[in-house]
Parts: sequence; C-alpha cells; structure tokens
Amino acid sequence: MKKFKTAVIGSGFIGVAHIEALRRLGNVEVVALCDRFNPEAKAKENFIDLAYTDYKKLIDENELDFIHVCTPNNTHYEIAKYALENGVNVVLEKPMTFTVDEALELVKLANEKNLVNAVNFHNRLYPANIFIKDFIKNKNIGDVFLINGNYIQDWLLYDTDYSWRLNSKESGSTRAVADIGSHWMDLVEYLTGEKIVEVFAEFKTVFEKRKKAIGEIKTFTNNETKEYELMDIDTEDIAVVMYRFSNGAIGNVTISQMGAGKKNNLEVFISGTKASVKWCLEDLENVEVGYRDKPKAVFTKDHGLMNVSKGAIDYPAGHTEGFPDAIKQVFKQVYNQPEVKNYATFKDGLRQMILCEKVAESAKTSKWVKV
Ligand SMILES: NC(=O)c1ccc[n+]([C@@H]2O[C@H](COP(=O)([O-])OP(=O)(O)OC[C@H]3O[C@@H](n4cnc5c(N)ncnc54)[C@H](O)[C@@H]3O)[C@@H](O)[C@H]2O)c1
Repeated sequence: MKKFKTAVIGSGFIGVAHIEALRRLGNVEVVALCDRFNPEAKAKENFIDLAYTDYKKLIDENELDFIHVCTPNNTHYEIAKYALENGVNVVLEKPMTFTVDEALELVKLANEKNLVNAVNFHNRLYPANIFIKDFIKNKNIGDVFLINGNYIQDWLLYDTDYSWRLNSKESGSTRAVADIGSHWMDLVEYLTGEKIVEVFAEFKTVFEKRKKAIGEIKTFTNNETKEYELMDIDTEDIAVVMYRFSNGAIGNVTISQMGAGKKNNLEVFISGTKASVKWCLEDLENVEVGYRDKPKAVFTKDHGLMNVSKGAIDYPAGHTEGFPDAIKQVFKQVYNQPEVKNYATFKDGLRQMILCEKVAESAKTSKWVKV
C-alpha cells in the first residue's frame, strides 16, 4: 500500500490538528515541520524528525507527496505556489489566500500541474452535514426559500485580546467574514447546492484600538501581561450579511468574534416548502427537522438513523465525532479518494475569496453587490 510523505508548514493551533489527523489515517508519514519560531522544539513536541524555518529548503530537501499550509493567511500563496511548481500536492488552510488574484493563480497552477488541491473547510464533513446535503437533495424539505444562521465566538471580546488575525497585513482586508464567515458561506452552499448571487453587508469594529501583549502570542489563549502595545484595528469584529441565492431563496447570517459565552457556534437553519432543517456546531451530532403538522424529528449520528455514504461515520452512535474527526474525514478523502470531492478544492477556496471580497465591498458602499 502506498505511504504518503507529508510536511506541515506552520505548527500553531491548526498545524498541530493537521499532524494529529494525518497520523490517524495510517498511510501518511509527517516527515518534516516548518515554523518561523522554534521549529526544533515544535518538531520534538510532535515527534517529527526534521525541523525547518525555511519552507523552500524543506521542499527542496525532501521528496514530498503533500504539504499542508497552516500559516497566517498572507503566506499561503507563496508557499502553495512553490510546492505546486515542485510537483507537490497541497492542502491549504482557509481563507485560501490573501487576495482573489492569488487564489485564481493557484487554481490555474494546480490544474496545469494536475495536482491534488484542497482547502480545509472541514465543516462539510461532519456526518450531520453529509446527511443534510442528501436530505435536501432528495427534496425531503421541499424547495428551499430561506437560509439563515450565525457563526459566533467570544475569543476577541476584550480589548486585550490580540492575534495576527487582527493585523490586516497578515489576515486580509476582512477578518470575521474571512476567518469564520467563509466557513458558514461554504457550508450553506455545499448543503443546499445553491450559490450566493448577491450580498448586502454591515460591519462593526467594536474596538478601534486593541492592546497587544509584548512577546509571542498564542491563538485562543489569555495572553495576560502588564506590557502592551496599542494597535489600530481596521477589520470587522462583527458582520451582519444578507444574501440572495441562485434559486431565488434569501438568507442572512450574523458573524461575530465578540459574542460572550459563544465559544464556536456555527448554526444553519434552512427552510423549505415541506420542512426545515437545523444544525449547530454546539450540538453537532444532531439534526433537527421541523414540520408544521407533526412533532419535530431529531436525527442523531448513527449508521442506522443517518443513511450517509460509507466511511463518513467512523464510530458508533453515542461516541462523538467532533472537530478533529471532521478534519480527519477531509484528509481521508483528499489522500485516498481525491476524485470524490466532498471536500473543498482550490476552486471552492477561490469562490470564498470572491464572496468575502464582495461582502466587504457591500459593507463599504452600503449597497447590494452582485457576485
Ligand atoms: N479550518 C479551520 O477551522 C481553521 C481553524 C484555525 C485556523 N485556521 C487557519 O489556519 C491558519 C493558521 O491559523 P492558526 O490559528 O493555526 O494560527 P497560529 O498563530 O496558531 O499558528 C500559525 C503558525 O505559523 C507559524 N508561521 C507564521 N509565519 C510562518 C512562515 N512564514 N513560515 C512558517 N511558519 C510560519 C507561526 O509561528 C505559528 O506557529 C490560518 O490561515 C487560519 O485561518 C483554520
């Protein structure tokens, strides 16, 4: 059986999740890691033999099948480009790139080189969402006319909360929308098969200045100190967006990184002419189906209750499959059945880059913007 050789670039929060998920596949060896800070210590912590600070050197010196790019958004393009040019398949974190043009170029290059390309929009591959996709496709809720929801976190609630995501030179011109809103938009398009064709958005930045702790900052942790640098903030903490979809459905989402008590709540509610479906990340194994004339049904993750494609559920009912498992499902498909494409490809990543740009344009102009 083929064993793949892989390297992970960037080993912060999500890089480590990639390493763990890759190892669970069984046919992938993570041979090297690259990080800008302390790569040797990070490689040691993750039991990886080779450590680099320079991704080019890493790619040049190892015969890799894949690289996974888990660095801040402004670096995705150059790393992916170099890998593709050297014949290496690429898994990118989202948002795919810093600009739409960069994403376009990577789509073209990956196609020319005929290499496997993926963007980790992992929410698609929770068993519940595979179930909902089929449920809607089979017309169980009738014709879809309303798609709404939210994605709310609270890790940026205080003005002392800071990460590279708050610096638009590293994260891009939109923040909450690109960072978490893109997950929501990718998911609803995937679930319904409908495309967003027009957007209208309002942004809010609660803190125009934030206090950045001096020294290395870890994502999603309290970086408490008495020494801060004052930083200007030019990206949104909150976005409220309305949508028009290709089939005439309308929708809206609230995106916030400052909703006290909501840790990571992505929620979708899709209404059709016969029924509605609801799913949220804080209750990720259950899908609620609502009817007007009978009690609601709850489909729980279970081989018998959720008739989903083989391999989408790896553990019996009652044994939660969460965030690390959804990422594993993405990689399982990318490595072993790349032709299936329930995972997001570069083309899907590009689409999200375009949508984020259109949402930002609408917030700036206070007008509906066509996609
Ligand atoms: N799919 C998801 O749900 C999900 C979740 C979290 C993050 N992400 C994405 O993953 C990426 C990384 O986010 P994170 O939260 O892990 O950030 P992080 O800050 O925790 O980790 C980033 C790591 O990259 C390293 N790094 C920075 N520049 C580098 C360079 N040029 N070369 C090598 N290493 C470099 C940093 O030292 C750090 O260790 C972002 O694009 C983010 O949007 C996706």
